Amino acid sequence: MRIAATADLHFSASRHSALHSQLSRVRDEADVLVLAGDLTNYGLPDEMEPLLNVVVRSRIPTIAVLGNHDYESGKQLELMRMMATAGIKVLDGTAYERDGVGFAGTKGFVGGFGRGVLTAFGEPEIKQFVQASIDETLKLERAMAQLRTPKRVVVIHYSPIAATVQGEAAEIFPFLGTSRLAEIVDRHGADLVLHGHAHHGQLEGKTTGGSPVYNVAITLLQSRQPASDYRIFDI
Ligand SMILES: [Fe+2]
Ligand SMILES: [Fe+2]
Repeated sequence: MRIAATADLHFSASRHSALHSQLSRVRDEADVLVLAGDLTNYGLPDEMEPLLNVVVRSRIPTIAVLGNHDYESGKQLELMRMMATAGIKVLDGTAYERDGVGFAGTKGFVGGFGRGVLTAFGEPEIKQFVQASIDETLKLERAMAQLRTPKRVVVIHYSPIAATVQGEAAEIFPFLGTSRLAEIVDRHGADLVLHGHAHHGQLEGKTTGGSPVYNVAITLLQSRQPASDYRIFDI
């Protein structure tokens, strides 16, 4: 299976024709399109609708998770419904199998990496914040536990490792993802982990357990040589 992956489209009406040309050949180059969150800029149905028009017209099976921007207006459930109606497989702590390849996905959350992972200690506000991170981790665990396929792809918006956020300001690393997600990946094993969110991070890294992790934020893909709007993975 050839997977075309991208993230952080941050779609707004002015990007309509650009996105149309960016996706015009994806069907010839891949069997599946993965969108790893931040599809919209402000999480508005008015942004999602024209985006879906472009994606539907590209006629490629599409799998997506939402990103933090898609939550900005509190309309995430409406957005997910719109996507499902348009035939997009939205993963939110869920799994999907297609042609022998399993996809497990969720948005993920912030929380930091390695020894810097924030723990649930002290004020109730900190505990709530950490719980949100743990909840997303448990959603990924649930999704991965459902997979029965030999090949497994994880789709998240936030990064599971620090390596693919290098390049961003060090001060914001804890807000770019959390290695709690990587612990789940390593517990279940994955052939491919795709994420976005770190617009100026690094293209690739590995979890401690050796699963390959790719940051497919579109800004990053467009800045590499040769520039592209999505990256193709053969699995
Ligand atoms: Fe983004
Ligand atoms: Fe994001």
